[in-house]
Amino acid sequence: MVRDIVIYPDKRLKLISKEVTSFDNELHTLLDDMYETMVSKNGVGLAAIQVGVAKRALIINIPPEDENGEAKQLKENTLEIINPIFIEKSGVEKHQEGCLSIPGIYEDIERAKYVSIEYQDRYGEKHSIEDDNFLAVALQHEIDHLEGRVFIEKLSFIKRKKFEKEWKKRYRNTL
Ligand code: CO
Repeated sequence: MVRDIVIYPDKRLKLISKEVTSFDNELHTLLDDMYETMVSKNGVGLAAIQVGVAKRALIINIPPEDENGEAKQLKENTLEIINPIFIEKSGVEKHQEGCLSIPGIYEDIERAKYVSIEYQDRYGEKHSIEDDNFLAVALQHEIDHLEGRVFIEKLSFIKRKKFEKEWKKRYRNTL
């Protein structure tokens, strides 16, 4: 089921999400719904707090493009990451980022180039993963959500001001 996405500046985006201790049906339904929600909005990553659930769970699906330039996000290729912990971070790189909670805004954000993390899957089994490419960016972006942080907080003061002004103008009628 597609759930509503929490949109900035909703205060829930500032919550520090809680560790998952029950790897039960409720968690599995949450993860399934998060996948449907993410795909419905053409996103590549989503944290549970973005559907209003303050649990340390996130999903990432970076689709490989086929020859028609069509990106398919198969469910079986979705990374489901529960209770992630950074083991290592190194280097610095800038990538353009966007966020389903701040739709239509894309900014270059500086993050570690390489990360390795440990996490649990939906059954509570432990895994580790490392990357020095776009997955590394996505992992850092989504794990930030678990800490109550969104990517625009990493902008310079001037760019942040510009963003807030533009955002208020765009959402004047809905806020
Ligand atoms: Co985001």
